[in-house]
Amino acid sequence: MRKYLVGGNWKCNGNMAFAKSFPAEVLNNLKFNPSKVDVVVAPTALHIPTVQGVVGNNVQVATQNLSLTGDGAYTGELSTHMITDMGIKWTLTGHSERRTLFGESDADVAKKTKIALDAGMGVLACIGELKEEREGGITKQVNERQLNAIREQCDDWSNIVIAYEPVWAIGTGLTATPEIAQETHAEIREWLGKNVSKEAAASVRILYGGSVSDANAADLIQKEDIDAFLVGGASL
Ligand code: PGA
Repeated sequence: MRKYLVGGNWKCNGNMAFAKSFPAEVLNNLKFNPSKVDVVVAPTALHIPTVQGVVGNNVQVATQNLSLTGDGAYTGELSTHMITDMGIKWTLTGHSERRTLFGESDADVAKKTKIALDAGMGVLACIGELKEEREGGITKQVNERQLNAIREQCDDWSNIVIAYEPVWAIGTGLTATPEIAQETHAEIREWLGKNVSKEAAASVRILYGGSVSDANAADLIQKEDIDAFLVGGASL
């Protein structure tokens, strides 16, 4: 049985008051069994220390991004050295907003994933197709192209969690039906079995993301290859 993981991606939202009050009033009151579910929140980098100062041990913290660089003359960047020095054990890579709005290529995402793994971090590696790609019937190819790029750089998938987030479902209120999500999750698991290992296919967690909320989570989680969620808007 794979352990569930629920991630909260705050994106570029929040202020100091929220970073203090939300962990105290909401996250610290969540009732879950930490041996069965990992809960990981990704505030903005600026708000992480504040969240860390308030939140209890059962909720972990992630960065939303990391740099391709190490420490040095790289204005505006965040190295894994600094991230891990802050006690942060998780990061997102390849969120569709990074890919589509900030030009991250499959190779960039793969390299960031490798850098984070090499730093001993767990990675929530996001993949997913655009609306026109789903409509064009190339969802499987797109996901496999994104996965293959990561596979080229990363042999050990034991600290990778895949977040399948169809781009047409992110922030739109359009959720993939449980059947559509399950079909794609099963394809991803099959890809893992063929391209990484049988063990990875059995153990790598595949999260669904895209307009997940209390209205649809209970139905989605029934599906055998959905190992919980990466949540944006509703996590706030
Ligand atoms: P959403 O975002 O839940 O607001 O659709 C998900 C995400 O971007 O990770």
